[in-house]
Amino acid sequence: MDNKIKIGIVGFGTIGKRIADAVQLQNDMELVGVTGRTYNYRIQLAKDKGIKIYPFPGYEDELAQNGIQFAGTFDDLLDNVDIIVDCSPKPYGKENKEKYYLPKGVKAIFQGGEKSDAGEVSFVAQCNYNEALNKNYVRVVSCNTTGLSRTLNAIDKLYGIKKCQAMLVRRGTDPHDVKKGPLDAVVPTLKLPSHHGPDVQTVMPNLDIFTTAIIVPTTIMHMHSVNVQLQNPASKEEVLELLKNTQRVRIVRNAEKVNSTAAIMELAKDLGYKRGDMMDICVWDDSVNVYGNELYFMQAVHQESDVVPENIDAIRAMMGFQDKEFSMRMTNQSLGLK
Ligand SMILES: NC(=O)c1ccc[n+]([C@@H]2O[C@H](COP(=O)([O-])OP(=O)(O)OC[C@H]3O[C@@H](n4cnc5c(N)ncnc54)[C@H](OP(=O)(O)O)[C@@H]3O)[C@@H](O)[C@H]2O)c1
Repeated sequence: MDNKIKIGIVGFGTIGKRIADAVQLQNDMELVGVTGRTYNYRIQLAKDKGIKIYPFPGYEDELAQNGIQFAGTFDDLLDNVDIIVDCSPKPYGKENKEKYYLPKGVKAIFQGGEKSDAGEVSFVAQCNYNEALNKNYVRVVSCNTTGLSRTLNAIDKLYGIKKCQAMLVRRGTDPHDVKKGPLDAVVPTLKLPSHHGPDVQTVMPNLDIFTTAIIVPTTIMHMHSVNVQLQNPASKEEVLELLKNTQRVRIVRNAEKVNSTAAIMELAKDLGYKRGDMMDICVWDDSVNVYGNELYFMQAVHQESDVVPENIDAIRAMMGFQDKEFSMRMTNQSLGLK
């Protein structure tokens, strides 16, 4: 259909390949193609699946020598899309913006590794969809910032947040990545606050939040231990009900023995999610506790996938689609989220 939003993906790694799959599930979007760079199994799979491939400048020979055929040049991709979703590693998104997207006047989405000035807006759909309406450059924030913003936004709206402190336990790297660590150490982030708190403030500017972070030898999820001082009284039961009804947040039950990040990843596989992804932020029911005006809870974030639905909603917002709830509903349904 001609009126579909035409999407190009630059960078076909952990995030890019997931967004490419998600775009193909949207009735109102068309995946024009993805960029290939170095030759690897991911780009080979894209070819095998019939996804159109455009070479990132400088990598034409390497790809061609390995049997990758091109649908056109990188310029052709830019000329034929409404929006580029740039999924390159930091800081190349911003570099690509200056070099390619701005001169061609192509709209682009950047990912959370980029500094916040890569986009005109830092985006989490349920927090600030409307701010991205008709924008040319939007940054979808990082996995951790997305996770904190989803839950804290709901809590702030209902109770008001006086102050929030969160300790982030971060995965060392993604499962496929054999080059990074730590393998056997706990690594504290010694510059305080960790960058996550200020990043949440790019989405929720009025939130008083302070974050600390440590990196641990695991690849499968991040975990957050969150303490919130509330402006208005709350009970454990009410907070659980609120989070249960918050989009892209899932309550996981200790009684069902979902008591670790490993169990959540297994649950995602058993639920039949593609790649075993868990796009919902998972809050442990028993971790939700209220003492006076202080709320405590713990949540887990699947770093490889939670930002995927945000990218889809950001595309619609940038194309001027005004109905945030409808966009989120279409995205959720297509991805099998509640
Ligand atoms: N992974 C996560 O947990 C996660 C979560 C949320 C947000 N993010 C953010 O998402 C972005 C992408 O991360 P990722 O984990 O998907 O990275 P990744 O797995 O390393 O994939 C990056 C992709 O971009 C390509 N690339 C490298 N340099 C490029 C350039 N200059 N221009 C265009 N493409 C280039 C890579 O090609 P080659 O394979 O040839 O190098 C690869 O296909 C980052 O901003 C990151 O902070 C990541």
